[in-house]
Amino acid sequence: MRILPLTGGLGAEIFEADMKDPAQFDAIREAFITHSVITLRGQSITPDDHLAFARRWGAVNINRFFTALESHPEIAIVLKEANQTGAIGEEWHTDHAYDQIPAMGSILHAIETPATGGDTAFCSMGAAYDALSDRFKAMLDGLQAWNSSRHVFGASQAESDAAASGRIGNAAKATQDALHPVVLIHPLSGRKGLFVNPQFTTRIEGLSRPESDAILQMLFTHCQKPEFQCRVRWSPGDVTMWDNRATWHKAINDYPGKRRYMHRVTVEGCALASA
Ligand code: SIN
Repeated sequence: MRILPLTGGLGAEIFEADMKDPAQFDAIREAFITHSVITLRGQSITPDDHLAFARRWGAVNINRFFTALESHPEIAIVLKEANQTGAIGEEWHTDHAYDQIPAMGSILHAIETPATGGDTAFCSMGAAYDALSDRFKAMLDGLQAWNSSRHVFGASQAESDAAASGRIGNAAKATQDALHPVVLIHPLSGRKGLFVNPQFTTRIEGLSRPESDAILQMLFTHCQKPEFQCRVRWSPGDVTMWDNRATWHKAINDYPGKRRYMHRVTVEGCALASA
C-alpha cells in the first residue's frame, strides 16, 4: 500500500490497500496513529465488511440519534437528499464528545457522492494545542469541560432540517452531559491535544460563565486555522476513518441539488486521561 500525507500535519490517503485483508491491519493502524485521519481509496466493501473492519478496532457504538441501516442497525446513515438544504455534521464537532466514554473513531464509507463538493474537513487538536503559548497551555492543563448532546439532538432541535427529514431522531434520548479534560493525553500516541469542540462543549468547569465563554471562544477560533486542517475529497468506494480524540470534523455543505449518501460506523473508545 502507498500512504501519502494530505498536509504537513494531518491526514493521509492510502492507495492500493484492502481493508478486508486482516494482514494489512497493522499497517493501517500505524498510519491511523500517525495521521489521525486516513482515507482508504477505492474500497469494494459490503456493510458486513465495513463492520468487520470496525470490530478489529474495538466494539461498535450504536448511534442513538442517526437513522440506522435497516439490515445493519450498527450502521448509521449519513444522507443528504438532492432536495434537502441542511446536512448532518455541518458544524465543527467531535462525534460522541457528550458520552462518558467518547468514541475512539468513526469510519465513513462513501456510497454516492456529488461530482464536486461534499468534502469533509478535519482539524488537528494536537497541532492546535502545540501552537498555544506555554503560559496558556499551563493554564489549560488540568481543566475539565462539560460536553452535552441536549442542545444539538434534543427536543429544541426538532425543527431542524435533519430532524424534519427523519435523518436524526430520538430527541428524548439527548440527555448526556459529560465532563472531559480540556487537554488530554492521547490514548494511542501519548500526544497532548485539546478536547473541546464548538458543537458539544458547553462550559469549562470551575470558571465563571464569562471566563469560560471567552476561553472556549478563543480556542474555537484558534483551532480553525487552516494550518491545522486537512480536507478529504470523496469518490464512491472511499472509506475515511478519523480519530475523535485527535480531531474535529465538519461536513462541507456545498452541493445544492445533489445527493450524497454515506454509511458510518463508530468504534467505542476509552476514558480520557487529563494532561
Ligand atoms: C459526520 O459528521 O459524521 C459526517 C461527516 C460527513 O458527512 O462528511
